[in-house]
Amino acid sequence: MELLLVKNYEELSLKAAEKVADAVKSNPRIVLGLPTGSTPLGMYKELIAMNKEGKISFKHVVTFNLDEYEGLSKEDPNSYYRFMNDNFFRHIDIEKDNTNILDGMSEDIERECREYEEKIAKCGGIDFMILGIGNNGHIGFNEPAEFFPSFTHRVKLTDSTIEANSRFFDSIENVPKYALTMGIKSIMHCKKIMLLASGKAKAEAIKGTLQGPITPKLPASVLQLHRNLTVIVDEEAGALLKTV
Ligand code: F6R
Repeated sequence: MELLLVKNYEELSLKAAEKVADAVKSNPRIVLGLPTGSTPLGMYKELIAMNKEGKISFKHVVTFNLDEYEGLSKEDPNSYYRFMNDNFFRHIDIEKDNTNILDGMSEDIERECREYEEKIAKCGGIDFMILGIGNNGHIGFNEPAEFFPSFTHRVKLTDSTIEANSRFFDSIENVPKYALTMGIKSIMHCKKIMLLASGKAKAEAIKGTLQGPITPKLPASVLQLHRNLTVIVDEEAGALLKTV
């Protein structure tokens, strides 16, 4: 595992963007796995700037997003479809057809999840997955549980996630209770993973993830078993890590 401790969110965003840019330069047809949320926003801004300056191109890049809320339409301001378009895709030279996001409005959720996995496989698997982490240690929407969920599936969100994500909604009642998410197996099959964490709300989860036991009660802890993992944390998120 490569662990990078950086000073603050700005440094984290720049470092993460540089890692993605290097990966895209070395494989212009790379398949990326992408998160939403507050954490990657700075990274997306840096990547947009690099793209506008002509330093990298996303022309042949393929993307798969980690998750989507159930029941929100593509136009809904809180859908991850909207988030990705507003914060990344429409500012770069990516082909719309090369971007993939689960359809939270699908009438057949099981089929939607199965076909998503099939599409990932057809593209040769995900080369580089970028992850944020929930305060409760979730990755994607794989919530703390008694077992590690495997492939893309429907999930009931925990109260802690609903509360954390309510900051984006008018009221907590409007936060969807269910979501579709890549599973732990889908994530662990990615060839390379980069986990990002910023701020003190993430410090406990990061400590457990990197230095605690591997347990589905802290889903991100499974990443200790991945053979090509980079973790970038800022001072606040890394504050509880023991240095050896
Ligand atoms: C989002 C996702 C989630 C977030 C996590 C952290 O696609 O998969 O696991 O990465 O909830 O969210 P932020 O970055 O908003 O703290």
